Amino acid sequence: MSRRQYIAANWKMNKTAAEADEFLDAFLPTQDGEGPEVVLCPTYLALHRVAERCSGTPVKVAAQNMYFEDSGAYTGEISAPMLLDIGVDGVILGHSERRQHFGETDEALARKVRRAIEAGLEPIVCCGETEAERESGDTDAVLSHQVITDLAEIHTDDLDKVVIAYEPIWAIGTGKVATPEQAQETIHFIRNLLRPRDPEAAERVRILYGGSVKPGNAAELLALPDIDGALVGGAALDPEDFGGIVAASAGS
Ligand code: PGA
Repeated sequence: MSRRQYIAANWKMNKTAAEADEFLDAFLPTQDGEGPEVVLCPTYLALHRVAERCSGTPVKVAAQNMYFEDSGAYTGEISAPMLLDIGVDGVILGHSERRQHFGETDEALARKVRRAIEAGLEPIVCCGETEAERESGDTDAVLSHQVITDLAEIHTDDLDKVVIAYEPIWAIGTGKVATPEQAQETIHFIRNLLRPRDPEAAERVRILYGGSVKPGNAAELLALPDIDGALVGGAALDPEDFGGIVAASAGS
């Protein structure tokens, strides 16, 4: 089964619209759409600008969060139709920073994932364990709970429309990358979690690794059989570094 690789830049709370423009000036001319799928995830305030400039290019654009209702009295939130309206293709859901600092729950995520799929946005659903959970042998239980609950409300036929990002929390922004063996073994475990629902979809679903991916370690991680791409934070802020990670992917 060949899965097209997927490399996403999670800019988190970085880059004004003007800084996003500078990144695009350097980055867009280097992208010919031949290799992996490439996705940029700016803040809401740079999203419109980035979506406009990426339209008609091979580069896709995703938001970093959204709410599951379409409109209403939800101060501070934005919805799937609003993202689609400005040409956004996807949305990161359940990033560990949202779970940790902003009270994101798996129950809310299940509704967000369902709404994203129904609306035609590609969800990038994040999961991952803390260092303490890994050390106490709870990684599998934590990941099973997250993945099974977060995907519980979507139709089995839609399973392969989801992109999953495995991001061990202890590897995010720490420079402590998972070993290739840990990343491969854990991502293989996540793929197996989907098999009981649909073995074919489990083979088609793309599962990314995230956590201190850099131009220097990307090729080794991306060559592993179950790893279909990367969700990149710090190294995605620089167009050359991010371009290096995209170039490290063979594409499929
Ligand atoms: P990092 O972040 O590459 O800076 O570790 C990855 C992420 O949180 O998506």
